[in-house]
Amino acid sequence: MQGNQGKQILLTGGTGGLGLGVVPVVLASGAELTLTYRQEKDLAILRERLPANALDRVRFVQVDLTDEAAVARVIADLPRVDGLIHLVGGFAMGPTHEYSLADWYRDFDLNLTTTFLTCKHSLRRMWQQGYGRIVTVGSRGAVEPGPQLAAYCASKAGVVALTRTIAAETKGTDITANVILPSLIDTPANRAAMGSEQAELWVKPESIGQVIAFLVSEAARDLRGAVIPVYGNV
Ligand SMILES: NC(=O)c1ccc[n+]([C@@H]2O[C@H](COP(=O)([O-])OP(=O)(O)OC[C@H]3O[C@@H](n4cnc5c(N)ncnc54)[C@H](OP(=O)(O)O)[C@@H]3O)[C@@H](O)[C@H]2O)c1
Repeated sequence: MQGNQGKQILLTGGTGGLGLGVVPVVLASGAELTLTYRQEKDLAILRERLPANALDRVRFVQVDLTDEAAVARVIADLPRVDGLIHLVGGFAMGPTHEYSLADWYRDFDLNLTTTFLTCKHSLRRMWQQGYGRIVTVGSRGAVEPGPQLAAYCASKAGVVALTRTIAAETKGTDITANVILPSLIDTPANRAAMGSEQAELWVKPESIGQVIAFLVSEAARDLRGAVIPVYGNV
């Protein structure tokens, strides 16, 4: 889709399995992207996925998104923040009665704290601009929790609540916040972990990219606080 020409969009987690499929779609929608990364080796893989004629619309910044001072600096340096697409997050399993507090905190930091910090500092810019689009990533587990996934499901439920809170706070403005809930995504990591037999049924990263590219566009102005399932065919 088109619709994001000239928009300055901050996208996190672009080097991940979902991000590698989402970034080219959002780029094709016309946006100017700031992509965060942590490791040089991942940056090289991401660069290879981008069309050479679009690289002048992309900037890369190295940042750990659990570090508030670093997040604040990165966002303050951007010319504008028309959109935030926060893909960073991750998954861990274990029975609740054996789950360590350290792992619980790690999962909340990765899923919820990074979302809070990127939203908080992007929102400051959006309030100044009077315009903004926020898209966060929960998980089907946020609304249909399963066994062995307490920290993951609880932290993703937190992402849903945080996003809906922002939508409530920005009601009456041209700032929106919506959260998508992917089910199993067709990524190389999931194929390696679970085999490819059912993979055709899983939602594709590029397909999620199309949903996100719309949510972050001006055209999605009347969609706020939506909790959107993107389950593919499972
Ligand atoms: N894969 C699925 O089936 C699935 C299903 C439902 C929901 N989701 C959600 O979709 C999102 C993307 O999933 P994915 O499969 O693409 O995960 P992934 O491959 O593990 O990618 C996660 C991304 O987040 C980055 N990241 C992690 N910690 C960070 C930090 N502290 N600061 C900055 N960047 C950080 C990673 O960079 P590094 O490589 O440097 O760690 C990577 O780019 C997550 O929110 C996930 O929970 C995924």
